[in-house]
Amino acid sequence: MEKVIFDTDPGVDDAMALLFLHRHPGIDLVGITTVFGNADVGTTTRNALFLAERWGIDAPVARGAASTFDPRRHQGAFPVFIHGENGLGNIDIPADIAAVPDPRPAHRFIIDTVKASPGEVTLIAVAPLTNLALAIREAPEIAGLVKRVILMGGAFAMHGNASPAAEANIHNDPEAADLVFTAAWPVTAIGLDVTTRTVMTRGELASIAAEGGEALHLLDDLSQFYMDFYRHRVGDGMVVHDTCACVFAVAPELFETRTGTVRVLTEGIAEGKTVLKPDGLRFGPSAWDGHPSQTICTHVDADAVLALIRKTL
Ligand code: BDR
Ligand code: CA
Repeated sequence: MEKVIFDTDPGVDDAMALLFLHRHPGIDLVGITTVFGNADVGTTTRNALFLAERWGIDAPVARGAASTFDPRRHQGAFPVFIHGENGLGNIDIPADIAAVPDPRPAHRFIIDTVKASPGEVTLIAVAPLTNLALAIREAPEIAGLVKRVILMGGAFAMHGNASPAAEANIHNDPEAADLVFTAAWPVTAIGLDVTTRTVMTRGELASIAAEGGEALHLLDDLSQFYMDFYRHRVGDGMVVHDTCACVFAVAPELFETRTGTVRVLTEGIAEGKTVLKPDGLRFGPSAWDGHPSQTICTHVDADAVLALIRKTL
């Protein structure tokens, strides 16, 4: 089984991804780390604790960054129109959640867990990359100790969703993302190029919920608000952005990839844009030189991904 720390900002599509990781037999979920993004970090942490409690997930939850890696960066508003005021589609969430977060901040939890199992821990990050950037700044040696980093983020061949150029997770903290892409650990990015092709219809989710018991009813309930937002964008269904990154961890053969160095624009009208310099192409000297080659996903067998999600949930 692959040890995974799930770095997340729940978030509706994050919730499905969490349940997928919990239920997949190839994954050993050793920790959940939270960050601002779809809501403030207090809310995303409460949501992670709530979901873990309801779904019987006993992995520790460590609260992470409340704001961007570079404190000078102006932080935008939270996308309450996508994930609801409470980050989980405005469902009722009880005020009294018994579980409490791990005492360590998320980046310290990541460092300690990676060092305790060198070469064995995969980081699956589906939110602004602030916690990963803080971890690598504090303990650069973990780059050589992490098994791999799989992240939901970026828009390579297509337009963004937070701006015409940028995908939301990268746009929310471009400096952190640039550090993560240029660090000496193996990164695979699952961006909008493939996630927006992977849409679970409202009917499909309802039918999984009908067969899947209480946990799936909760997932279906909390996803309704998000699907209402996406109705006029992708049809009547749910873009399963974050679950795509989790599927890549267990079924990489369902994706086509390219390799090269990735940089993130940190200023200008395209800030947050992810740009690949493909391996094998020659240019003059550039800011892409001297950084490790990483992997990006370009195409997906969406039907097979959705079938695997259904089976796993
Ligand atoms: C990403 O942004 C967040 O709103 C989602 O949870 C996902 O991680 C999609 O751009
Ligand atoms: Ca997310």
